[in-house]
Amino acid sequence: MAAPVEKFNPLKPNALSQKRDSARAATRGKKLQISEVTLEDVRQDAMQFGLATNVIFQMKAGKEASIYLAEWKGHPIILKAFRFWTTSQASKERGVYAPTKMCALSSKEHDMLWACFNAGMNVPTPIGRVGNYLTMRLIGEGIEPAPQLKDAHLDDPDVVLDMILDEYLIMYSKVNYVHGDLSRYNILWWENKPWIIDMPQAYRVGPWADMKKAESLLRRDIVNVLSYFKRYHDIRRDVDHIVQVFLSEYVPENLRNYDETFATPEEVFFHE
Ligand SMILES: Nc1ncnc2c1ncn2[C@@H]1O[C@H](COP(=O)(O)OP(=O)(O)O)[C@@H](O)[C@H]1O
Ligand SMILES: [Mg+2]
Repeated sequence: MAAPVEKFNPLKPNALSQKRDSARAATRGKKLQISEVTLEDVRQDAMQFGLATNVIFQMKAGKEASIYLAEWKGHPIILKAFRFWTTSQASKERGVYAPTKMCALSSKEHDMLWACFNAGMNVPTPIGRVGNYLTMRLIGEGIEPAPQLKDAHLDDPDVVLDMILDEYLIMYSKVNYVHGDLSRYNILWWENKPWIIDMPQAYRVGPWADMKKAESLLRRDIVNVLSYFKRYHDIRRDVDHIVQVFLSEYVPENLRNYDETFATPEEVFFHE
């Protein structure tokens, strides 16, 4: 069997790239939604890598990854496959080919899930990781995945919002990461609890962090979550206050004065 890198080489015309080119022609001018690898390819890889005993079907296709329902000896699990090239036309034209990046993302997500799980958060328990593939617990009943927050029926949205913020506060203050893509899609609602998922882009808040970037990602995440809850008219929260609560829980020691870093001499003078 060809090495995975060989198989995914977009520069070499083969059955896969021909399939991709014809799909591209058919969708010219539209947002591309191409599945470059077949289910059989993924099944072969996952079984060969010892990640699953079967891969049943593709559940979702996102920008950078696809989600599959897989099995480990009869038990349903989730297989997440990071793709070797993106679906954006621009990056295709530049010939982006990034197996290393995809492996780095799957490894990052695997480590994030472990860290969050160990900190006591509700996240899918990670199972295994090889190359660009990652397996984890399926959140849901049997083979039926739990709904994303956007599709969940919430009896008490005010309490649910608090639960989400509490979970995120654990990630921020104990795991020391900002999620970076928290939204109604990346929170599942299951067994009356929110489950935060999809964290390969998380940003580490440590001594070498760009704290302004961390704060702006944190703010964006919180704004995203609050914007979903706007549909419940009695829910009104102050973004600034929530961000301050998070920051008061943790800012790396050496970055305590990060918001004064770029103060002009005049500002420093009047401040004193
Ligand atoms: N462990 C899981 N259990 C149940 N459903 C999941 C799980 N992981 C992902 N999903 C479903 O697949 C979707 C896409 O997965 P996600 O990790 O968010 O990847 P993407 O990068 O494509 O957004 C999720 O929004 C969720 O509906
Ligand atoms: Mg997602």
